[in-house]
Amino acid sequence: MPQLPTLPSWQQLKQHWQAMQNTPMRDLFAENSQRFNNFSLEVGDILLDYSKQRITSETRSLLCQLAKESELQAYIERMFGGEKINNTEQRAVLHTALRQPQQTVIRVDNENIMPSIQASLQRMAEIVVQLHSGAWQGYQGQPITDVVNLGIGGSDLGPAMVTEALHPYQQTNIAVHFVSNVDATQLFQVLDKVNPATTLFIITSKTFTTMETMTNANTARQWLQSKLGEQCDLNQHFLAITANPQRALEYGIRKENVLTFSDWVGGRYSLWSVVGLPIAIAIGMQNFQALLQGAYEIDQHFRHAEFEQNLPVLLALLGIWNINFANCKAHAVSPYTQYLARFPAYLQQVDMESNGKQVNRDGEKIDYQTAPIIWGELGSNGQHAFHQALLQGQDVVPVDFIMTKQCHHDLDNHQTILMAACLSQSRALMQGKDLQEVEKELQTQGLSKGEIATLAPHKVIPGNRPSNTLVLKKLTPRNLGALIAIYEHKVFTQGVIWQINSFDQWGVELGKQIAKELVDNNGQAKTELASEFDSSTQGLWQFLIS
Ligand code: F6P
Repeated sequence: MPQLPTLPSWQQLKQHWQAMQNTPMRDLFAENSQRFNNFSLEVGDILLDYSKQRITSETRSLLCQLAKESELQAYIERMFGGEKINNTEQRAVLHTALRQPQQTVIRVDNENIMPSIQASLQRMAEIVVQLHSGAWQGYQGQPITDVVNLGIGGSDLGPAMVTEALHPYQQTNIAVHFVSNVDATQLFQVLDKVNPATTLFIITSKTFTTMETMTNANTARQWLQSKLGEQCDLNQHFLAITANPQRALEYGIRKENVLTFSDWVGGRYSLWSVVGLPIAIAIGMQNFQALLQGAYEIDQHFRHAEFEQNLPVLLALLGIWNINFANCKAHAVSPYTQYLARFPAYLQQVDMESNGKQVNRDGEKIDYQTAPIIWGELGSNGQHAFHQALLQGQDVVPVDFIMTKQCHHDLDNHQTILMAACLSQSRALMQGKDLQEVEKELQTQGLSKGEIATLAPHKVIPGNRPSNTLVLKKLTPRNLGALIAIYEHKVFTQGVIWQINSFDQWGVELGKQIAKELVDNNGQAKTELASEFDSSTQGLWQFLIS
């Protein structure tokens, strides 16, 4: 594969950006009344409007040509077919297999993996029935009322985000809690409000070694024994979800309480696996299956739709246009739906832990931008917090607005105001307000020429700032599954074009190593640090532990 910057389409896109970067989107809308229809796409219950991007049909064609020259279709089939495209860990990347129909055959090392996936779903279903029916009882013979997931990163963000997003589909009065922070405050915020006799802990960790999770697990275990007695059978109050079952057994979890998944499921792509058990406990297996179905339908769309009509591919290419040609270093995600409050945090890991890389698949340093800084917040809040910078700041930050057409409450006036607010922001970013418009407005308000001359420059809004708007018909399990899969495949597509491995995360290992040089195996602070520690870390550490 030729180096990305040498591809013909890359060169053409560079020239194209030079030629059209000063064409205001206002003019593109003015010259084509059908612009919305020409640059929007509906897939299932999801509409993508990308007409407020600084593109023309020529831009779209060149970007799709870039995808073709990057051999994207071949890479898509390599992923779905189970090839070990995670080349630095020699692993397949098969979170997509988790939502394939049962009769599919997908082989890893010559073994069809589908039976094990079906067995995991069956085990999940059994546990959900036992919990919902009250058949699963704690040590004192009482049914479970609270489930506490102890995990971090991909062992927390996805399950937590989906459980919150699908709150209207809760099937049980079992409360599901998520603890990730090793700051014990978060754990005790939960423990202080649950009954030990009716609480089930799920230790979720792909490696079963993550310091934060295991520290929380140890404390939860001590807490339970302090409440129910040292002799209490932990297995009535602990499950383990991991790709390292041996470590879970050594920890003291019995075999039937250990749910496993394979190493070809990346942590940040694992909510579709047994890692999604807290989701299934909250919303029931039927809704969990609907979540899988929505993702599967996007998988099919992603594999078979022409790039110009392919929603994840278009999102990926628009991102590359803004990042690599318009030099945007950040990307904001702004849900206008309260239930998607945790969606930006979830996307940060999926996007930045996948594509925050600086060497290509072959280990060669690359000289072009890769993952942007992904950040975001609920739109209503953002408008009263950071939208000022989005509208008049020095940086152009593309925004993904995410909205639902139907909501789960019946206060239409709230929904109307919410929808108007969402569209007001994407239009303000695109349209802006130039000096002439500001001066005219101030004149009608009766300001003097002097006052106008003073105030007008401060009220100019540059505009021509790009955004996408994704509208879901309703935030249902199926549509949420589709939305998540869209972003998974967007990230995959960008990684293919950037010629990087999106599925390892070697960068995070250094922090883990350093932390272990500060704390001994019993979790006690080391009072003397190795001499090679910089004086800042030495000084801070001594200040902290003294
Ligand atoms: O952040 C590094 C990381 O390894 C993530 O990739 C992963 O989701 C998280 O830590 C938790 O890892 P584990 O599931 O093994 O506890």
